[in-house]
Amino acid sequence: MITSVKEILSNAKEGGYAVGAFNTTNMETTRAIVEAAKDMKSPVIIQITEKTLDYAGGRAIFNLVKNIAEFYAPEIPVGIHLDHGKSAEIIQRCINIGFPSVMFDGSRKSYEDNLMLTKKIVDFCHEKDICVQGELGSVPYIGEGEMGEIDWEKYMTDPQQAAQFVKETGIDALAVAIGNAHGFFKERAIPDYDRLEAIHKLVGIPLILHGASDWENGKVKEVISRGICCFNVDTATRLAFVNSLAGSFRDQHNLSFDIRKLLGDAQNEVKNAVMKKIGYFGSGGRI
Ligand code: G3H
Ligand code: 13P
Ligand code: ZN
Repeated sequence: MITSVKEILSNAKEGGYAVGAFNTTNMETTRAIVEAAKDMKSPVIIQITEKTLDYAGGRAIFNLVKNIAEFYAPEIPVGIHLDHGKSAEIIQRCINIGFPSVMFDGSRKSYEDNLMLTKKIVDFCHEKDICVQGELGSVPYIGEGEMGEIDWEKYMTDPQQAAQFVKETGIDALAVAIGNAHGFFKERAIPDYDRLEAIHKLVGIPLILHGASDWENGKVKEVISRGICCFNVDTATRLAFVNSLAGSFRDQHNLSFDIRKLLGDAQNEVKNAVMKKIGYFGSGGRI
């Protein structure tokens, strides 16, 4: 059942667990996410980036997600969300398609520009009952940083500024930077738990953690207990998909030329990766 992201997040926040917001690019990944959520009786968010809108076709991928969720798991709350929308144009494109929830990522702009643009988008989206996630501080990507080092202070969310940003923009959810990084390998060794606690004390809306695909259960639980109620996951599921394909191609003796076999195996591996995350997040059995 397609459900408002705002409701999914607020249930997680109230319930003291986190939901997964899993990126999809295709039919196999989407089915893997929906089936994992169904087997584990977990609410879930499925999200699409601008690159995927261009790759798959905006209406095609949106309707694919919607149809798979409604057909295969009508009893499971599934939110559909635009991940990392970086311009008013992409937000408008998603609104035209029918997205009920979007992220406006102004995190690479100056604080003033991020605030002003996010507020404009919130005003516009709220008129249409569309939920908006903003980002303050900035979650780095693999490949950033001088000689492999990241100056974390440049990226972190400032708690006082976060309180002001949330109040002035009216966003529904906030992505925070506490030492997390997109992709594998580059996280700060220990996240800044004190900073997260301070943000949580000052900000009442759901807090989202991007770039924690490779966090083990201990770190995941630590941040849930300090206010994170949603994790974005992309790299872990992409790796599961690609590793499965690579394994199939390595096994020359049994190599199948039936792409349904190759992609079906990849789908199963993605499903396993999603189930592992749902186990960590504590969202299983919540419906
Ligand atoms: O943070 C978002 C994604 O992991 C990047 O995905 O390659 O679809 O833009 P993309
Ligand atoms: P990972 O690439 O680390 O899984 O992060 C995903 C993400 O933040 C998507 O917005
Ligand atoms: Zn992200």
